[in-house]
Amino acid sequence: MTQDELKGLVGQAALQYVVPGEIVGVGTGSTVNRFIEALASMKDRIPGAVSSSVASTERLRAIGVRVFDANEVGELSVYIDGADEIDGRGHMVKGGGAALTREKIVAAQSRRFVCIADESKLVEALGAFPIPVEVIPMATARITRQFAAMGGQARLRAKDGAPLVTDNGQHILDVSGLRVTDPLRFESDVNQWPGVVTVGVFAHQKAAVCLLGTAKGVRTIE
Ligand code: 5RP
Repeated sequence: MTQDELKGLVGQAALQYVVPGEIVGVGTGSTVNRFIEALASMKDRIPGAVSSSVASTERLRAIGVRVFDANEVGELSVYIDGADEIDGRGHMVKGGGAALTREKIVAAQSRRFVCIADESKLVEALGAFPIPVEVIPMATARITRQFAAMGGQARLRAKDGAPLVTDNGQHILDVSGLRVTDPLRFESDVNQWPGVVTVGVFAHQKAAVCLLGTAKGVRTIE
């Protein structure tokens, strides 16, 4: 099976976690795009969605799903999103699609995080995938030095020859060279550095369930 077929498999499998009659939280990325395609089949059974990015909002609206502002609704029963890396305990690296801040907000508003990913995303320890960190632009150089002091190399993410600007108007640093052995502590520590908007380690908002696409079918890790 191709990677895209594996994404389609878990996108479809995630439908079983959507609660009829309830608003669903929707993440961002190519795997979530396959979930959104599948969600079209039950769009008349849910009032709508809370979305984690402009890109997902557009896709949800295109299939006729109403998109609510996070402030308009209370707690969500479930949040479905992908990951760049996930370990066996549900800790993740996210933000490859630059949507990490809104993803963490919607995840925090949801009772259950269901991660959908192909099996290449399962890792022993987080950090081989460069860790995305959304930052306030004026703090970029200092935060880069703080990561260097920890042994990490931070690179400013670019798009079309200019720094990428997130949906929140900020920049992204991608940090390589770190092995995250204590995800909860790493997330707590980096998140309180001045100028960090959100670090892309999701340990406080970890996945309760991971649906992994494998050649043998969907493997569920709980
Ligand atoms: C976007 C994300 C995505 O969930 C992550 O990058 C995985 O994306 P894909 O499903 O395309 O591999 O965190 O900010």
